[in-house]
Amino acid sequence: MSRTIRLLQWLTMCIIAVSTELIYIDDEHYMYDVGDRLLSIGLESQYVADPTRFDFRSTKLLQLAKGLAPAYLRIGGTSCDFLLFNESLSKDVTLPTLPRSNYTLSEKRFDDINNFAAQSGLRLLFDLNVFLRKGPAWDPTNSQEIFTYAKNKYPNIDWQLGNEPDLYRVSLNMDISAEHLAHDFETLSHTRSKSFPSSLVVGPDTTNPSFLSSSYMASFLKTLHSDNTRIDAVTWHHYYTNGKTAKLADFTDPELLDNLQREIDVVEDIVSRYAPNTTVWLGETSSAYGGGAPGISDRYVAGFMWLDKLGILARHNYKVAIRWSLIVSNYALLDPDLNPNPDYWTSYLYKTLVGGRVLGVTNISASTSGNESDGKHFRVYAHCTNKRSGYNTGSVVVIALNLNNGAATWKAAGYVGSSSVDQYLITSYGSGGLLSKNVAVNGHHVQMLNDETLPIIKALNIPRGTLINMPAKTYGFYVFPDIQANACK
Ligand SMILES: *[C@@H]1O[C@H](CO)[C@@H](O)[C@H](O)[C@H]1NC(C)=O
Ligand SMILES: *[C@@H]1O[C@H](CO)[C@@H](O)[C@H](O)[C@H]1NC(C)=O
Ligand SMILES: *[C@@H]1O[C@H](CO)[C@@H](O)[C@H](O)[C@H]1NC(C)=O
Ligand SMILES: *[C@@H]1O[C@H](CO)[C@@H](O)[C@H](O)[C@H]1NC(C)=O
Ligand SMILES: *[C@@H]1O[C@H](CO)[C@@H](O)[C@H](O)[C@H]1NC(C)=O
Repeated sequence: MSRTIRLLQWLTMCIIAVSTELIYIDDEHYMYDVGDRLLSIGLESQYVADPTRFDFRSTKLLQLAKGLAPAYLRIGGTSCDFLLFNESLSKDVTLPTLPRSNYTLSEKRFDDINNFAAQSGLRLLFDLNVFLRKGPAWDPTNSQEIFTYAKNKYPNIDWQLGNEPDLYRVSLNMDISAEHLAHDFETLSHTRSKSFPSSLVVGPDTTNPSFLSSSYMASFLKTLHSDNTRIDAVTWHHYYTNGKTAKLADFTDPELLDNLQREIDVVEDIVSRYAPNTTVWLGETSSAYGGGAPGISDRYVAGFMWLDKLGILARHNYKVAIRWSLIVSNYALLDPDLNPNPDYWTSYLYKTLVGGRVLGVTNISASTSGNESDGKHFRVYAHCTNKRSGYNTGSVVVIALNLNNGAATWKAAGYVGSSSVDQYLITSYGSGGLLSKNVAVNGHHVQMLNDETLPIIKALNIPRGTLINMPAKTYGFYVFPDIQANACK
């Protein structure tokens, strides 16, 4: 090797070393504590009611659900407005398969889902049918039957009413004004106080404010406000794009990821005016609406949107985001045979490692070998670790996303940077690249050990002071275990 080449290599290394930015994590104070149910899950009501769909007594399903607990299990979606509860039906019934016709939820199936939730550590969020009406008002008769049945048996169910009411007129030929819906929620709140004193009522589950307009949510909250009624959380739904037209590149596009921030701002503005100090949840959310993007929403690449979303929401003190959905559709966490898709494993690691305390991060940048080093293609979020992670109290976990088309190197500054690092780098596994259905953590394929056992995912320890290197378009978790961050004690 000639001297010149060596000199050039040495110079390049110096430039990389100098330009490697140090990320600063505030280890003194936490911004918020979002609790342990931010990552929550949901299922379409109709599939839950249908005894032929899935078996809530399956050991595999139970183990997979436990892997995401504690969390909410929301039973809802478009089909909630076609659900009729029939308590005199004590055995399973076969249901019509048409998506827009009424179907029955039997008492037995209701028991099955409640038992499943209790055994797996999930709290039920049940979405009631608002299409049952008397004149302009909600007719709660059928819901009363659920309340009567559930009151003593399942006193901890939380309640919603209807789904995406701002779309009723366009997509379901049903007209329920925001003002009428607010009065329906007052009826529900009243019942809740009598029968379910420890339950929450949350709503109105409107769609992305930019899809139609945010005026439905505003009118709804304004009416409640003037009637002096409070709901326990304002809920809305978020999808980045349309599943029918979404392309692979959309899933790593920082402009599209930033769409969430813009929508959060719109909602925050409305809530601060008409429901000040009310907590805000995502009542339903995924990558792309309309069932997700076929062949993309259930692949490795979907993890960028999911992790970025969880990171941004925590920084806005969101305490719940219902991932749509656990099973069924292109964005499901589990495939029809209950085999985990990549986002299941990412969620499982998130639940294991990430605690509720959110830490401020500044100077987010990495030096990259790609041509997208514009400051938007590298994203970082920080939390205290979760107690269940087994790490000492005082440890910090970073969620990092390298959206760049080249490798990214980075390092933590300050006190956090004095720790070694436990890396959980998630990459695709086998063929398919970004569209792979399989993932690896630190190069090892992640899969269930058998139908009843989730794997223990091992970290790769990186000595203190070493630069962290993330390949192009990858994401992962990085734990800083050898510190006693005051923010996390
Ligand atoms: C409930 O089921 C019983 C038995 O099949 C039936 O007679 C009754 O009409 C049903 N009630 C409702 C409200 O669907
Ligand atoms: C569902 O049942 C309700 C109450 O019986 C009825 O008013 C409504 O028209 C039915 N909807 C459909 C789509 O059949
Ligand atoms: C909202 O919370 C802040 C801080 O806790 C408090 O100062 C303010 O009065 C509250 N506003 C309303 C309308 O409750
Ligand atoms: C963050 O970056 C700015 C500008 O590059 C620098 O002045 C500052 O010292 C950095 N802060 C930390 C904590 O590294
Ligand atoms: C980056 O490089 C790729 C391929 O080398 C090219 O297709 C793309 O347009 C480049 N992007 C930018 C922002 O220059």
